[in-house]
Amino acid sequence: MQFPGSISSKFPQLGTTIFTKMSALAQQHNAINLSQGFPDFPVNQYLIDRVHAHMSNGSNQYAPMGGAPTLVHAIAKKVRTYLGVDYNPATEITVTAGGTQALASAIAATIREGDEVIIFTPAYDSYVPVVELHGGIPVYVKLKHPDYHIDWDEVKVMINRKTRMIIINTPHNPTGAVLAQADLIQLAKLVEKSNILILSDEVYEHITFDQNPHYSVASHPILAERSFVVSSFGKSLHATGWKLGYILAPENLMTEFRKVHQYDVFSCNAPLQLAIADFMQHEGVFDIAPMYQQKRDFFLAQIEGSKFKPLKSSGTYFQLLDYSVISQEGDVAFAERMTTEFGVAAIPVSVFYNTPTDHKVLRFCFAKQEETLAKAGEVLRKL
Ligand SMILES: Cc1ncc(COP(=O)(O)O)c(C=O)c1O
Repeated sequence: MQFPGSISSKFPQLGTTIFTKMSALAQQHNAINLSQGFPDFPVNQYLIDRVHAHMSNGSNQYAPMGGAPTLVHAIAKKVRTYLGVDYNPATEITVTAGGTQALASAIAATIREGDEVIIFTPAYDSYVPVVELHGGIPVYVKLKHPDYHIDWDEVKVMINRKTRMIIINTPHNPTGAVLAQADLIQLAKLVEKSNILILSDEVYEHITFDQNPHYSVASHPILAERSFVVSSFGKSLHATGWKLGYILAPENLMTEFRKVHQYDVFSCNAPLQLAIADFMQHEGVFDIAPMYQQKRDFFLAQIEGSKFKPLKSSGTYFQLLDYSVISQEGDVAFAERMTTEFGVAAIPVSVFYNTPTDHKVLRFCFAKQEETLAKAGEVLRKL
């Protein structure tokens, strides 16, 4: 069927995402899929039992707009425990349909035609289209290969009267880099006397390695008062398909956020919220870093002796591998060939840039069972 009128696409350049493409290619060629970022191991059984219980008990109607009270209180307690700061559960915390909706609604609530938004590349793919949808102008600053740090002097040069927002992401997808406390201090210096907002994507906050702590903008007073902080239960509870997360912000920012949120989604899945609140009564449910560090180390052990060169991964569940010794092909072509000829799918990092930037690096997701990682390793060692 076709719409008989004319449509002028708001996104003429946008097609299907590389994640969908690579997963489809992996399926078609029966390849081991280390491309898309999701775990292949089960969600905690008690948590699933609580979902059943709340559904059976009749908690199947709309949750309050800001989130189920038990959950927002549990989030406030968790934020106090992990980040050492107090956010008011009634006015400064909102439960969202995953990190994605939190990011999109925060941008929608604050960005107007002509506002400039600083985005670091390589960047998670949802930021730019949403900024542009609202008339914002993405201003790109490249992270410095190969450790993907931020050159704050470069950021300083990009700031002007039109700068409305800086989007940061720590731990960082796709590179696995994490911001140090010194980075937050630099950022605070740059924005302190300005009207600039920070949108801090911290969906991998609980996955950092090698004694690298997660530094949240929420813990830095100058940044916290101008920041939206985004977290994802999908990432933290290995349940990406549940699409639940939350956002923190000072009350005046949250008021604006909720004006959009109430019409984007109004409220999020009620029984899942109640189940997560029950689960969060238990100690240590977010202490997932050791498990992921073990997976990272297992994956690195599998590729030892191969021609791939691992770059440092200090967080997230992604590992970058440099393949320049194996091939000089572009990373998209190499990733496709690796999937179709050798049976392992990964994501070429060039797709996270706005301009052609090919360091011959692929992103592998190691949130997989050891058996899957071992099979992938067997293939990669032969290349
Ligand atoms: C950096 C980053 N931000 C946000 C998201 C979206 O999180 P959610 O699945 O909770 O919408 C992802 C998911 O892959 C991500 O990697």
